Amino acid sequence: MSTSTGSPVTDPTPPPAPPPAAGAGEGLLSLRGISKNFGAVQALVDVSFDIPSGQVTALIGDNGAGKSVLIKTIAGIHSPDDGQFLWEGKPVHIRNPMDASNLGIETVHQDLALCDNLDIVQNMFLGRERVERLALDEESMEKSAGETLAGLAVTTVRSIRQPVASLSGGQRQSVAIAKAVLWNSKLVIMDEPTAALGVAQTAMVLGLVRRLADRGLAVMLVSHNMNDVFEVADRIVVLRLGRVVAVKPAAELDRQIVVDLMTTGVSTRAVTPGKGAGK
Ligand SMILES: Nc1ncnc2c1ncn2[C@@H]1O[C@H](COP(=O)(O)OP(=O)(O)OP(=O)(O)O)[C@@H](O)[C@H]1O
Ligand SMILES: [Mg+2]
Repeated sequence: MSTSTGSPVTDPTPPPAPPPAAGAGEGLLSLRGISKNFGAVQALVDVSFDIPSGQVTALIGDNGAGKSVLIKTIAGIHSPDDGQFLWEGKPVHIRNPMDASNLGIETVHQDLALCDNLDIVQNMFLGRERVERLALDEESMEKSAGETLAGLAVTTVRSIRQPVASLSGGQRQSVAIAKAVLWNSKLVIMDEPTAALGVAQTAMVLGLVRRLADRGLAVMLVSHNMNDVFEVADRIVVLRLGRVVAVKPAAELDRQIVVDLMTTGVSTRAVTPGKGAGK
């Protein structure tokens, strides 16, 4: 097959550009020039990047960089003052959390918003219970919840009828993530999912994050933890004082460069192999 990179003189009729694929080949969700002010505080300034399907995009930045404001803007909790969202390449408005959830965006907040007194099945179906002949269809909900957890290889939970209060931090995080999968979300955003976890539980949750992306979901992971980021991220977005200072494949960065970018906005270092890149 010939390529279209030849000289325009010898190739006067280059083939037409292919029609843009969903998300113009880049983002399931694309941010274009998103800005958000709180009075005099410029929390987000002209933020543009893409969140592609099938990849883990890590969002990293120092305290106050604007990570939470950015998540809340995508989740419909804050409205941007300026800029645009594209969903599968088409402009969309995300005016409230319902708009976000209708698009297929699920946010797993750090506090998880699970109900301690309810069991796993009840939590996963909260607000969207299945009803059959005026009664809850417990059997079908239990089956779906069990299948979703098994499909994500969440195997440490003893009973899906145990109250969430009795779960470990990692298991709780897994239930919150499985809930997003159960509802066919296309983009799952996680705010510091391993912040409160020990080593084994962190590994479990990061494994789950990876599996979500491998299933074709777009995942955005917000984290302070450089180990987590380099363990699981395909792409890294660095935010500093509300501005994007880098959007790069993880393989083109290492920990020291990311620290430079987070703190000063630039880095003149070359990537040191093994210092972060490589999952
Ligand atoms: N509701 C609000 N009203 C006013 N200012 C706000 C509000 N929310 C955030 N800010 C400001 O916006 C900036 C970004 O805050 P944000 O919470 O997004 O930071 P962050 O990157 O999540 O930091 P951290 O790592 O500490 O969670 C900060 O200067 C913060 O004070
Ligand atoms: Mg925050």
